[in-house]
Amino acid sequence: MRSIKLASELKIDSVLKPEVLVIGAGGAGLRCAAEICERRPGTSIIAVTKVHSPQKSHTSTAQGGMAAVDPKDPIDRIVYHMFDTWKGSDCSADQNIIKAVCESAWEQIVWLERHGMHFSRTEEGRIAKRPFGGHMLNFGQVKAFRSCYEADRTGKGIMDTVWGESLKHGVVFLNQSVATELLFRNGRCVGAVVLMEQNGKFVAILAKATVMATGGKTRMYQVSTNCRQNTGDGLCLILQAGLPVMDLEAVQFHPTGIVGPGILASEALRGEGGILRNKDEEPFMERYAPTAKDLAPRDVVSRCIMTEIREGRGCVHPDHKLPHVWLDLRHLPEYIHKTRILEVCGFFRKFVGVEPRHELCPVTPTAHYQMGGAPTNEFGEVQKDARQIVPGLYACGEFAAATLHGHNRLGTNSLLELITMGKVVGERVTAYIEHAENPGDIPKDAGSRIFSRFSGYLEANGQEHYAKIRDALRVLMMDKVGVFRNEKGLTEAIEELKMLKDRARRLELSSRSLVMNQDLIQFWELDHLLDISMVIAQSALARKESRGAHYREDYPERSPEFHYHTLAYMTDCGNITLDKRDIDMSIFEAKGEHYEKFGIIERKY
Ligand code: FUM
Repeated sequence: MRSIKLASELKIDSVLKPEVLVIGAGGAGLRCAAEICERRPGTSIIAVTKVHSPQKSHTSTAQGGMAAVDPKDPIDRIVYHMFDTWKGSDCSADQNIIKAVCESAWEQIVWLERHGMHFSRTEEGRIAKRPFGGHMLNFGQVKAFRSCYEADRTGKGIMDTVWGESLKHGVVFLNQSVATELLFRNGRCVGAVVLMEQNGKFVAILAKATVMATGGKTRMYQVSTNCRQNTGDGLCLILQAGLPVMDLEAVQFHPTGIVGPGILASEALRGEGGILRNKDEEPFMERYAPTAKDLAPRDVVSRCIMTEIREGRGCVHPDHKLPHVWLDLRHLPEYIHKTRILEVCGFFRKFVGVEPRHELCPVTPTAHYQMGGAPTNEFGEVQKDARQIVPGLYACGEFAAATLHGHNRLGTNSLLELITMGKVVGERVTAYIEHAENPGDIPKDAGSRIFSRFSGYLEANGQEHYAKIRDALRVLMMDKVGVFRNEKGLTEAIEELKMLKDRARRLELSSRSLVMNQDLIQFWELDHLLDISMVIAQSALARKESRGAHYREDYPERSPEFHYHTLAYMTDCGNITLDKRDIDMSIFEAKGEHYEKFGIIERKY
């Protein structure tokens, strides 16, 4: 351990100059890196990751699959996938992105397969596909088999593939390192300041292009599928730079989190035939969604589960004291248990001591995904408002909002989105760096923002501990900014968030070292969780309607008045300015075949 660091000593210790900086080395960031390397061998790329190894990225935990329609499929059609995505989004995804992503989906399956991914196969040797919520044939009539998968560890297969490609092409990784500040010169992004936790040094990484792909952020919820690193750091870097975030009110609750840890119990379980039951063992989804039943989209199923619980038809788990319903897998054939859902069933055994072949599994909605993020155009160029981009700054994956998902994402469209948009951004960056000027020397004020924040942490001598504030935040967000929202709860949440932010200023650090100081990092993360929670709550309060995963009990219908994306700016916690971005309706406006399916349509399952 180095000696105690005085805040006034904080400085940039070194400078690195790759051509491209990728912040976040999960599926999207590394798909992007692989594309750049294939198109322009020899490009120097540094990828920064918060985790110990890229293989620990949250992408690795994705289970169920990646949606894609083979253009030669005799039954399914790309236009059905496009329609489902539009309907699933509650008419708030961008149609230019829907078209581009769904049309290139199969190409990306082939890319993964040719680069070594082991997709599960049918007995005839074709890539196997399973059904998932909201994916249907014939414009919503009957379930579609559209999710390509590698057993119940598809994300791991993707990470193996893109990480392998990145290593092969010489991408340099800075593991256990956090990007703390974006750097700009004359409005162009020229890199970032990164803290390398292992040696406690700050490095300025100057690059022609910076790609942000730091994933999601739902660790502010008590029950969450997200890995502990998903604390909204990247979004806060965007906000601190005076740039907007988009649609943060759209938080996806996955219907089936394993009671207790909230770990994902894949929708694949229902895709393979699993059935949700209430405390009387009634298969209740039939009452709410007579056509799609258990495979209705996630926002719908989560609300149905919460309604069952609220109306007294749920159970309370004796150990975790959390309300839940049951997922019934007992009737599934042995070969499905053994070959397709082996890993996730193991989670039930391990975390709740339940044997899914013989017992009902306790599940509850769990915060899973951010539909919004850093607003980008169709090329992944980050926007500074509804019209202009920030030169040199790109975003892809869950971190970005292009947006394929609008206010509700269909399962398996996230792996699809991160792979396709990672590729698109890779293409765009390759073209950009060919003619872009070098970033020059370190901007004069580099590090000033983060050094002043870290000084605050290092010099503080209060009494508060981050874990207490974080736990209070998680309960608050679950109760008042969760599956069901209303004006009273949101207003109270905003007031309570201000109080938690005040408490977070009175912190106590157990160590003042910069080296592997988890106390310091967790305080920094707590600030981000609080700031992003504030944006979620205020954006949710302003959207006086229900759309997708954003459900207002006091405004239960979708309203044409809110047919736009929410842009939110916030340089200081609570000081929020809201703006709008149009929803792209280009498929509808082009008036081509089936265009009428892409208007403002009814959403029933
Ligand atoms: O349920 C799942 O396997 C999750 C898939 C997804 O979020 O796309």
